[in-house]
Amino acid sequence: MGLVTGACLAHVGHRVTCVDKDEGRVAELTEGRMPIYEPGLEELVVGEVGQGRLSFSTDLAGTVHEADVVFIAVDTPQGDDGSADLSSVGAVARMVGGALAQPEARRRQRPLVVVNKSTVPVGSGDFVSMLIEEGAAEAGGAHSSTPGNNNGATVDYRVASNPEFLREGSAVYDSFFPDRIVLGADERDALDTMRALYEPIIEQTFPTRRDPRPKAAVPFVTTDLASAEMIKYAANSFLATKISFINEIATICELVGADVGSVAHGMGLDERIGSRFLSAGIGWGGSCFPKDVAALRSIAREYDHEPLLLDATVSVNERQRKGVVAKLQRELHTLKGKRIALLGLAFKPNTDDLREAPSLKIACELYQRGARVVGYDPVAGKKALGLLSPPDLLKVAFDPYEALEGAHAAVVVTEWEEFRGLDLGRVASSMKDPRLVVDGRNLLNPSDVGAAGLRYRGFGRG
Ligand code: UDX
Repeated sequence: MGLVTGACLAHVGHRVTCVDKDEGRVAELTEGRMPIYEPGLEELVVGEVGQGRLSFSTDLAGTVHEADVVFIAVDTPQGDDGSADLSSVGAVARMVGGALAQPEARRRQRPLVVVNKSTVPVGSGDFVSMLIEEGAAEAGGAHSSTPGNNNGATVDYRVASNPEFLREGSAVYDSFFPDRIVLGADERDALDTMRALYEPIIEQTFPTRRDPRPKAAVPFVTTDLASAEMIKYAANSFLATKISFINEIATICELVGADVGSVAHGMGLDERIGSRFLSAGIGWGGSCFPKDVAALRSIAREYDHEPLLLDATVSVNERQRKGVVAKLQRELHTLKGKRIALLGLAFKPNTDDLREAPSLKIACELYQRGARVVGYDPVAGKKALGLLSPPDLLKVAFDPYEALEGAHAAVVVTEWEEFRGLDLGRVASSMKDPRLVVDGRNLLNPSDVGAAGLRYRGFGRG
């Protein structure tokens, strides 16, 4: 997320330095090698490095001295109790404070704007300020309780929150053409600095090859720190709830013999509902929804509030994963000794991200029931190798037909475009009876699958 943001801000005309503590990663990025698979990113990074607008460094203090704005874009992994782990955010904030207390920082003309882009619990703006102060006090050798002041050495900064809404797989596009930019800060000058920074994106004046431009202008939402932090949790939890809602409807559709695709289409045309995020199937995963919903539930509980709707959102999602196993059991009876192919391992298409990927959970459940699982993914195969233990829990194939060879059943776990074009006749002849296809994303056409001699089971499709 930091890399995408940095590269995009460089492209719109700013001078950007991306700092990472991992020297190897900094060296790789400088040479144009990407640590993740993200469409369009490599070309963008290499281009901006070539233009001299983007560079990589391990020197946080040196970068802070030069910067007008510092984005904190480190990860906030989920702790055991569901809450977000802020140790990386805290460590960076402390180092920024330390840098601001150094003599070089006295040359600063304007306050440094420290922007939280990591998803952090409501109230983290204050936490970041506190750690900047502490870091400055430690570096200056004395503690200061007055915000912005460190024993004579002025620690001049502002904290802002700028939640990130980009989606993996289309992160570059989302950064250039966002639905909105949200900025939370308690001081006017911080909002002004950030407005100026985002001006080329807000006004859509930066160079692009997209013709026509997808957006005319981008709404810039300014609010207080706590509300900005809350917007991110509310947006992701709403989307996760929307998916769980349609999955609940899908289950009822199956019982009454209705088709969830038609239901979602008919519902989605109501502008108040909207058609997006109404695809039923095995549910949501990834690096954001599971973590953010868990964090919001944990925040609510801190205040003794039971978040009933969010609890249900998670329960429905867990039930969808189990639904795959139930469908397989219903058709195969016993899973012992059965070979099952997973088509797609990444949590969604166009990424190699396996965080909270349904494929991993499903592979574990199937293995525990005595099945042999082999997975194929167009890009995430290598990352999946040896990820689960024991190593034979999930075998990885590098060709879809190889994964399907001799399989009693196949599960479409990720809706990669590639799977739409599978030669179903070839699939049927290489699989073993009952030649079952559980379509976890309602991707395939049931009649085409049936006509090829395969047995089809989707989610909520009558
Ligand atoms: C999400 C948010 O969309 C983004 O705004 C935020 O910044 C980060 O989290 P991302 O995790 O990249 O982005 O993926 P997204 O496209 O939102 O999908 C999340 C999960 O929901 C995936 O597992 C996807 O398969 C699932 N999904 C999505 C459905 O099951 N049905 C749908 O209709 C849409």
